[in-house]
Amino acid sequence: MKLLVLNGPNINMIGIREKDIYGVQSYQSGMQEVQDLCKAHNIEVKIYQSNHEGDLVDEIQAAYQVYDGIIINPGAYTHTSIAILDALKAVEIPTVEVHLSDVSVREPFRQISYVSYVACKRIMGHGMKGYLEAVEYFMSK
Ligand code: DQA
Repeated sequence: MKLLVLNGPNINMIGIREKDIYGVQSYQSGMQEVQDLCKAHNIEVKIYQSNHEGDLVDEIQAAYQVYDGIIINPGAYTHTSIAILDALKAVEIPTVEVHLSDVSVREPFRQISYVSYVACKRIMGHGMKGYLEAVEYFMSK
């Protein structure tokens, strides 16, 4: 199995930014756990982070017929990006949406998620562990 983990703007600052909301575990350490879990289960994984919407669209397009699953935390683009939604629709790769915080109980603007229109599963409010749950979800399929 091949998985693509995509992280949007400011996700690389997790562990530094708004620790009361996103927790203290660093982005690097959380992604290392994803790598380790995938390695232990013979899953090929690519982890990519960008602060730029078009870069994320490019990565999704490049995933076409290459990856079996996408795990995406689009950061603030969750709430704004029809372009990311359209790219996910185009490639038709099963997608799990992950958020460190529970966006469903935060500001009203965070309760809108364009990615949720295509996501086969949404994991929210479990911090960095949410990414591991997403990998486990694909393992169970
Ligand atoms: C986030 C939630 C978004 O609203 C926010 O813009 C982020 C992080 C989360 O993981 O909880 O950058 O996606």
